[in-house]
Amino acid sequence: MSRTSLTRFLIEEQQAGRIGPELRQLVTIVSRACKRISIAVSKGALGGVLGDAGTGNIQGEAQKKLDVLSNDILLEANAWGGHLAACASEEMEHSTPVPDRYPSGDFLLLFDPLDGSSNIDVNVSVGTIFSVLRCPPGVDKPGDEHFLQPGSTQVAAGYCIYGPSTMLVLTLGHGTHAFTLEREEGSFLLTQPDMRIPEETKEFAINMSNQRHWEAPMQAYVGDLLAGKEGPRGKDFNMRWIASMVADVHRILTRGGIFIYPWDRKDPSKAGKLRLMYEANPMGMLVEQAGGLASTGRTPILGIQPDGLHQRVPVFLGSRQEVTEAVKYHLAFDEAKD
Ligand code: AHG
Ligand code: MN
Ligand code: MN
Repeated sequence: MSRTSLTRFLIEEQQAGRIGPELRQLVTIVSRACKRISIAVSKGALGGVLGDAGTGNIQGEAQKKLDVLSNDILLEANAWGGHLAACASEEMEHSTPVPDRYPSGDFLLLFDPLDGSSNIDVNVSVGTIFSVLRCPPGVDKPGDEHFLQPGSTQVAAGYCIYGPSTMLVLTLGHGTHAFTLEREEGSFLLTQPDMRIPEETKEFAINMSNQRHWEAPMQAYVGDLLAGKEGPRGKDFNMRWIASMVADVHRILTRGGIFIYPWDRKDPSKAGKLRLMYEANPMGMLVEQAGGLASTGRTPILGIQPDGLHQRVPVFLGSRQEVTEAVKYHLAFDEAKD
């Protein structure tokens, strides 16, 4: 059987004129960094990588050792390749341009180095999420403001999930493709080309413990899901919540579903929990490239003009018909209010 490695896939994308050599190199380098993170994650307690780092990030969250290590691995791997102008990360307040001693390239890279931090110490799947933007023309040393481009302008997005197997799921704007790491060989092999999310679903993912803090249309929507066959939706729904966005989104890309992290009243000053630029946008692109939808509950995520690197948004993504249904509840509520 002929196998398609990530290397071969990227060369073929380049030959087809869909990507240039710089983007090919960028994705290769990110995938290599993810392999290193995968090795560290899989060592667990034996690698001394579990537990807190004893520091906090700009968002007031306690950092785990693996948050810091993964961030360092990604920064180091991307510094010298000549394909990048700057990086931004969940773990850093501001973006960092590539050091002066290295050549600078045309792309901007954003990442959530370790997603699902609360699952590290309990041996549950975690991941790395990344988003690639073009550096605006004529900008030599980009600052944070140059990253503030809507998700629809992403040239690539992906995640690597560190689970029972390590997988890289990637879009270059022409479908969403999954690669599985062949651990002995150290190469990612294409195992699910052109993933398609089923349009309908009977499965939702949400942290139900926040229910009392949700706004009225969310209460109504989830109430109708829970009512099952006897309710207005006329079918029974199942629920899953892993609390690693990569793992929940991976399940949805594989077998359908809707993932929701809505706005809630716990901290009304925050527009949501998840971050637009390195969580919602890349996941939104991957899901839409697989035929699904990504919304804030009211507007498409990929259309948002960002106003900050660490901006938060409500996230509804997954099976097209189910996301459309959830949005209907919100729009009907807003209309009734006016
Ligand atoms: P991170 O570990 O990068 O901070 O992201 C955690 C996110 C996301 O992965 C997950 O869906 C969500 O937080 C879980 O939140 P709750 O613990 O509130 O359920
Ligand atoms: Mn995250
Ligand atoms: Mn993280």
